[in-house]
Amino acid sequence: MSIEKESQRYRFSEAPIWDWQRAYYEHKGLQAWEGSQVPQYITSNPFIATAYAEMIFAFLQDLAARGVQHETITIVELGAGSGRLAHQVLYKLCALKDFAGIELPVFRYVMTDLAMENVMGWREHPSMQAYIAQGLLDFACFDAMQEKELNLVVSGMTIRQGDLQQPLLLIANYFFDSIPQELIYIGEGQVFECDLLVELPQDVNTQEPAEMLEQMSLHYTYRAAPGYSSNSDPYSELIALYRAELEDSHILLPNAGLSCLERLGKLSRSGYMLITADKGDHRLDYWKYAEPPEFALHGSFSLSANYHAIQYVLEQQGAEAYFTAHHYKDLNAGMILMLEEPNSYVNTRLAYHRFVERFGPDDFFSLKEWSDSKVHQMELKQLLPFWRLGGYDAEFLMHAYPRFTYLLPDASEEEMSDLLSGIRQMWSAYYRMENQAQLALITGQLFMEMFMYEDAKPFLEESLTAISDEHKVTHLYELAVCCYELELEQEALSYALRVVELDPNHQDAVVLLNSLE
Ligand SMILES: C[S@@+](CC[C@H](N)C(=O)[O-])C[C@H]1O[C@@H](n2cnc3c(N)ncnc32)[C@H](O)[C@@H]1O
Repeated sequence: MSIEKESQRYRFSEAPIWDWQRAYYEHKGLQAWEGSQVPQYITSNPFIATAYAEMIFAFLQDLAARGVQHETITIVELGAGSGRLAHQVLYKLCALKDFAGIELPVFRYVMTDLAMENVMGWREHPSMQAYIAQGLLDFACFDAMQEKELNLVVSGMTIRQGDLQQPLLLIANYFFDSIPQELIYIGEGQVFECDLLVELPQDVNTQEPAEMLEQMSLHYTYRAAPGYSSNSDPYSELIALYRAELEDSHILLPNAGLSCLERLGKLSRSGYMLITADKGDHRLDYWKYAEPPEFALHGSFSLSANYHAIQYVLEQQGAEAYFTAHHYKDLNAGMILMLEEPNSYVNTRLAYHRFVERFGPDDFFSLKEWSDSKVHQMELKQLLPFWRLGGYDAEFLMHAYPRFTYLLPDASEEEMSDLLSGIRQMWSAYYRMENQAQLALITGQLFMEMFMYEDAKPFLEESLTAISDEHKVTHLYELAVCCYELELEQEALSYALRVVELDPNHQDAVVLLNSLE
């Protein structure tokens, strides 16, 4: 480490990279999650949604056990992104509630984000309308860096400091790694501020945030920062711990995240529960000898969340924090109870134990990644339970579809019936995203292979809109066959004619036409 004197430099949390980050999300809106730009599968799939729904359900049970309360429980998701997690959690939570058939406090799920575009996108999203109509879902534009209250878009309500008597429930996925953090360096027991010099190539010819982030080069300079250790710094005890335990270590400090939690916590007079998942460790060891942070670029960028600092600071304030005993890989899912007598929330703690600690979203993701390269070796006996484990996820079916097709000719009646049931469950929980037409196509084809022409037809028709001309002939022919089998002769004729128009040498279509004419 060299200590330099540099005039043009930024405190890490104030560098222009954060303006580009904000601009990226504000301009892109929900498109940020299309074409695999910003990753969302790991934090938004049905498996993680089920785990969260179980924890929320358990929390509602614990609140119910405290006596009848008429106030609606507010669940706030921060940086709710594509909206897929919220949709899946609501789906699972409603299913759990119906299945249990017990009295629980009424709840409302409030999706929030910095980007108004996202809020408007969710508000109009076809998959959200049923929840909005039932009064279960609301939205708010909320800038985590400064705002203190929530202005709900649908109900028009404002939730201000102290308004809620019941505890608040907060959800934050891939959130603490995406908002500004401080960066310090600990060396020889001293604290240094790591300032950032951001350079763009001379000939940079763009105002596009994603491109600026891609083209930037970063340099750090270090200056002594005794202020962090002064008693007036709200996190001075944390810093004292880092000074005592760490050496030659770069540490991201989640001051903005902690301040956001503090502001939101004040909305309720009874504290909050936080469910959160991110890349970032809660163990001090992880930060020992840590190099400067790595920027993961994906249109926007993300760093690591310092869950160690979040846990330490909140526990000092009386919270009980839960992170997994095993070392996390890719995703660290934790739960923090900033509540009076947190240990008395027995159902909630058990739910964390059962749905995260014992086998959680991180474990599932590791297996899912592994299975992606192994589906071609799996039999229906493995494919079906693995798909069920993942909550009948659309992504898995899309990936495993060629293998299902290969195995279907030898499938038993029972296996076909289970596949059919999986397809139905998948569609009933599906959150519409850009892959909808593709999913409709493979669904239609699977039904065709099971000779279920009536079920296949609407899916094949829906998918036609998104098929390139190159593949259109095949799918028009499939539709012609489907209609033929359903004895819809006029439709079969019209599809077969379209095939022959596009490919006059399509022998099968010609034969079909002859038999129809
Ligand atoms: C990496 S994405 C995560 C999205 C989603 N939670 C997920 O797991 O897929 C970060 C999200 O935080 C939002 N965000 C960024 N800065 C924010 C801020 N200052 N206040 C509120 N949300 C912010 C972005 O708009 C984006 O939706």
